[in-house]
Amino acid sequence: MHILVLNGPNLNMLGVRNPEIYGKQTLGDIEAMLRKRLAGTDIKMDFAQNNLEGHLVELIQKARGKYDYILLNAAAYTHTSIAIRDAIEAAEVPTVEIHLSNVAQREEFRHFSYIAPVCVGTVTGFGVYSYLMALEYVLAKDAEKVNKDE
Ligand code: DQA
Repeated sequence: MHILVLNGPNLNMLGVRNPEIYGKQTLGDIEAMLRKRLAGTDIKMDFAQNNLEGHLVELIQKARGKYDYILLNAAAYTHTSIAIRDAIEAAEVPTVEIHLSNVAQREEFRHFSYIAPVCVGTVTGFGVYSYLMALEYVLAKDAEKVNKDE
């Protein structure tokens, strides 16, 4: 099993960006937390961040046939990007939508997600644990597969 954790714009600023909303942990801390959780499993993880919409579209396109799951925090593009939504649909890689903050409690413009309808599900509001919870889903699906194969 091979997964891609993909982070959109401004998430490289975690740690200093609105810590009252996003917490004090950096994106590096999140990556380390996920790697720790994966230690001892045979799941490989690539972890990336990019601020550019087109670049994220390309990474999602290239995920087709390569990754089993994408864990995606599309950040502000969640609320604006039909291009990212179309890329998820075209890539046909099951994708979990992630948000650190509880977007439903925030400004109205964050309540709508272009990508939610093409994602398996959404984890929002649990801070860095949103990533961990999305990863737990992937681990559970992997265990299901291993049990079936036995
Ligand atoms: C975010 C929520 C988005 O609304 C926002 O634009 C972000 C981060 C989150 O993780 O809570 O940049 O995706």
